[in-house]
Amino acid sequence: MPGCLLTPPPDDPCDRIAADLATAGWSVCADFLAPGQVTALAAELDGRRAAGHFRPAGIGTGMALQLRPDIRNDQVHWLGESPETAAQRPYFDALEQLRLAINRHLFLGLFRFEGHMALYPPGSFYRKHLDQFRGATQRKVSAILYLNPDWTPGDGGELRLYLDPAGEGAYQDIAPRGGTLACFLSDRFHHEVLPTRRERRSLTGWYRVRE
Ligand code: OGA
Ligand code: MN
Repeated sequence: MPGCLLTPPPDDPCDRIAADLATAGWSVCADFLAPGQVTALAAELDGRRAAGHFRPAGIGTGMALQLRPDIRNDQVHWLGESPETAAQRPYFDALEQLRLAINRHLFLGLFRFEGHMALYPPGSFYRKHLDQFRGATQRKVSAILYLNPDWTPGDGGELRLYLDPAGEGAYQDIAPRGGTLACFLSDRFHHEVLPTRRERRSLTGWYRVRE
């Protein structure tokens, strides 16, 4: 049938990310959102910080949630289930396209996304960890969108992704440059945020399966 595509065009960024996840288990995509969309999200984050919406981030979940500034000392503001501002709409739309692409490629049955804005003041970090909490396996894919213009190597704050399942040895460092999306299987990749020298802003979240 003319004009009927049975397979998605290979240059669709969501399909490329999903194909990477299916083969390597991780992916990095520059310019996942347009520069103006990234700037609008960064401006929203700055406004929420000024309005006092950020709280120190904890580790664990529910009753086991603890503040451990020796392990992580970023601050977060949790997002809702759907966009709450005009700036969030393109982000939620792109994440929904990506969810569908991942489900097509990996048959994971991803059901919903939960996420937060994150702010790492100069000097802050998040030590090596896995994104699945003990006994809670609903988080399947981690996705982090960076909001920092002009990141240079001396700024630190890289996401260090350990490629070996043991979380030792070979790693890939990913600079938190504005518009870049880093994605990986939540139960497979140990990772850490190296100490940042500049304020580091991001949107971090997880695709979950139905509980
Ligand atoms: C997290 C995390 C990585 C990053 O919030 O769990 O690992 O690059 N973030 O911000
Ligand atoms: Mn993490």
